[in-house]
Amino acid sequence: MDSFDFYNPVKVLFGQGRIAAIAEEIPPNAKTLITYGGGSIKTNGVYEQVKAALAKHTVFEFGGITPNPELEILLDAINLARTENITYLLAVGGGSVIDATKFIATAVPFSGDPWDILNENASIAQALPLGVVLTLPATGSEMNPYFVISRRATQEKLQTRSELVFPRFAVLDPSVTFSLPLNQVSNGIVDSFCHTLEQYLTYPVNAPLQDRMAEAILLTLIAEGPKTLAAPSDYQARANFMWCSTLADNELIGAGVPQDWATHMIAHELTALYGLAHAETLAVVLPSLLTYKRDTKHVKLLQYAQRVWGISQGDEESRITQAILATRNFFESVGVATHLTDYELDSTCIQPILERLQKHGFIALGEHQDIGIEDVQHILSLSI
Ligand code: NZQ
Ligand code: ZN
Repeated sequence: MDSFDFYNPVKVLFGQGRIAAIAEEIPPNAKTLITYGGGSIKTNGVYEQVKAALAKHTVFEFGGITPNPELEILLDAINLARTENITYLLAVGGGSVIDATKFIATAVPFSGDPWDILNENASIAQALPLGVVLTLPATGSEMNPYFVISRRATQEKLQTRSELVFPRFAVLDPSVTFSLPLNQVSNGIVDSFCHTLEQYLTYPVNAPLQDRMAEAILLTLIAEGPKTLAAPSDYQARANFMWCSTLADNELIGAGVPQDWATHMIAHELTALYGLAHAETLAVVLPSLLTYKRDTKHVKLLQYAQRVWGISQGDEESRITQAILATRNFFESVGVATHLTDYELDSTCIQPILERLQKHGFIALGEHQDIGIEDVQHILSLSI
């Protein structure tokens, strides 16, 4: 395998009732800003649990963070944090709230235009400390250093990374996710599956442990995903799904192996321009990308077919075709459609995406940096 650095300082507090433990994680003298989304935490009891845990702390609140969090809204949170001299942030929500909070953490001490943190990849010298109470297993943001922010005015969606925004702790209580609408659970399963595949389906580098860990996550998602959809309050199934989702995107399975995040890069443009949910865009792009890149991914696709889907009949090309079809069928079976037409988009949506990728300089994607603009056009044409 390749040489690598691996660093992950996030303390995970996993299990039912663990929100109470945040009182010991946040320093007693901190001025804490609790950040949250559109209000689900106010109806499922999570808000009360957080407030009860922090009864002796000084807390402020900022709600109203939308899915695919927008710069325009977050500027208010940055102002509030500066005005009140906030020293600690607590994100209570899904990936959008966590990403937004990471952005706020870096923007508060940042002297320039906060959008430069994403747009110019400005270097991040400082960040406020943050903790997380996760309410939606999907992105892995609770245990990773990434954040993705959108800008409504320009229809852009950009991501960056900083080790300074690793959460200090992350509470993973599966029972607080029972209130999720089923489509959000479906989205979480697909997002986690794609994160795993994007670190697995490249080419072999003699990294059997990383391969087996990735396969373990995929097999567990295939087994537990349908279970947790069929019985949303089954704690064990939800707990297993939740842990898969966190481990799929905390950089562990990607250490020392080639990675292909082209699907995510193309998918972000689809969300920015047409408003599809994150997982919907992945379900549309990934099967087509695997089909288009089946030659360079040949060896790993065969391994995936055999070990994850148990496909052993037919010649090599047929086994690969079956594995890609199994992937598409899995996404569909958990309730996420895989064609652009399912989202009322047709071939006219493709050109604007190509222009955005060009503008952002995302013109050499994939593990071999060989996915250019023309290739994206072919991939998206396969998605119609
Ligand atoms: O806003 P509220 O009212 O809380 O409702 C949310 C939101 O409408 C709802 N929800 C969350 N927990 C709930 C709940 N409803 C009922 N009960 C609960 N327990 O779910 C809706 C979607 O939430 P959101 O946070 O947007 O979803 P998700 O976790 O999928 O996050 C998506 C965002 O994360 C980014 C995506 O691009 C997108 O912007 N990603 C971040 C990554 C990272 N930081 O590493 C990696 C990912 O690939 C992804 O790009
Ligand atoms: Zn994702």
